[in-house]
Amino acid sequence: MKRLNVGLIGAGRMGAFHGETIANRLPQATLYAVADPVPGAAEKLISQLNVNTKAYTDPMELIQDPGVDAVVIASPARTHASNVLAAIKNGIAVFCEKPMAVNLTEANEIVEASEERNVLVQVGFNRRFEKGFKAAHTEIASGKIGTPQLLKSTTRDPKLNRAETIPEWTIFLETLIHDFDTLMYLNPGAKPVEVYAVADALIRPDLKAKGLLDTAVVTLKFDNGAIATTEANFQAVYGYDVRAEVFGAEGMITAGGIRESSMTRYNQNGVSFDTCRYDQDLLFDAYVAELSSFVDCVIHQKPVLATAEDARWALKIALASIESVKSNLPIKLDQHILV
Ligand SMILES: NC(=O)c1ccc[n+]([C@@H]2O[C@H](COP(=O)([O-])OP(=O)(O)OC[C@H]3O[C@@H](n4cnc5c(N)ncnc54)[C@H](O)[C@@H]3O)[C@@H](O)[C@H]2O)c1
Repeated sequence: MKRLNVGLIGAGRMGAFHGETIANRLPQATLYAVADPVPGAAEKLISQLNVNTKAYTDPMELIQDPGVDAVVIASPARTHASNVLAAIKNGIAVFCEKPMAVNLTEANEIVEASEERNVLVQVGFNRRFEKGFKAAHTEIASGKIGTPQLLKSTTRDPKLNRAETIPEWTIFLETLIHDFDTLMYLNPGAKPVEVYAVADALIRPDLKAKGLLDTAVVTLKFDNGAIATTEANFQAVYGYDVRAEVFGAEGMITAGGIRESSMTRYNQNGVSFDTCRYDQDLLFDAYVAELSSFVDCVIHQKPVLATAEDARWALKIALASIESVKSNLPIKLDQHILV
């Protein structure tokens, strides 16, 4: 069977991981081309991976390269939507890192264009490919804990780096966007109806006036009655912390964790274990599994497991959260321009 020729857009931190996965971890894919506007960045990644791959500085040239079968987009958030749309218009399947778009006009355009042209779009919601979260979804969907009543989702990054360069509202559009999707994934079939968000700059209060929010809590009400809370913080000194909990009428499910391995240390100081300090360690398997699934879906024309529609819902919740912070009021999703 022909291997899928994948073009990678964005050769930064996440792009390097995805590039390595495409080149070395997926037998059905080839890293055919890399595009990054920084001169030499694509070449540098190609040389690190020691692969025979084309380099571009213009992502549009990569998208228009007739040899490209699919693209993986790992450029900064605000550049995603235009490249996703360009790929769809060229009939090329897309894996796009989250967020797929940062406004609803773009998200709507992507959902419509991908449906109209029958082009697969998968979004980088890695929890859907993490073993524990997947198992939790399956249990909940099969009714093992009854109707969900309370949900929680947490993302805490280990270290706030380059705080001055973080674009406004990143905590909702790029961090909690994972949790918004997780809450929908773990409350299958239910839709959010109301969102209330509180956020502050507690790690770097000096940057609040410049728009930094590094800590946030969002409460959501769903149309099946469930109430959810989700929270994020950019600096958990103990490591990268991604967890969820769903409490239902007949039990409770938890997923996620912070352990670096199953090793537990017992000594005169007590009991301890090491934690992951990096997303690519904690979510290594999920990052590989999401691309493996994408390649499989494109080759066999199967529906993807994290869709543009999922991304549009997560974005609606993020935008409602932003509006809630601005107004200090709960935001109803059904009466809102968002729907
Ligand atoms: N799923 C996850 O858990 C996860 C984790 C980290 C990052 N991400 C996402 O991955 C994306 C990239 O993040 P990162 O940490 O790798 O950032 P990064 O800054 O390390 O890398 C971004 C790269 O994109 C390049 N670039 C800039 N403008 C571009 C454009 N217009 N077109 C193409 N490339 C462009 C930059 O030169 C850089 O090499 C972001 O959307 C981020 O939200 C996802």
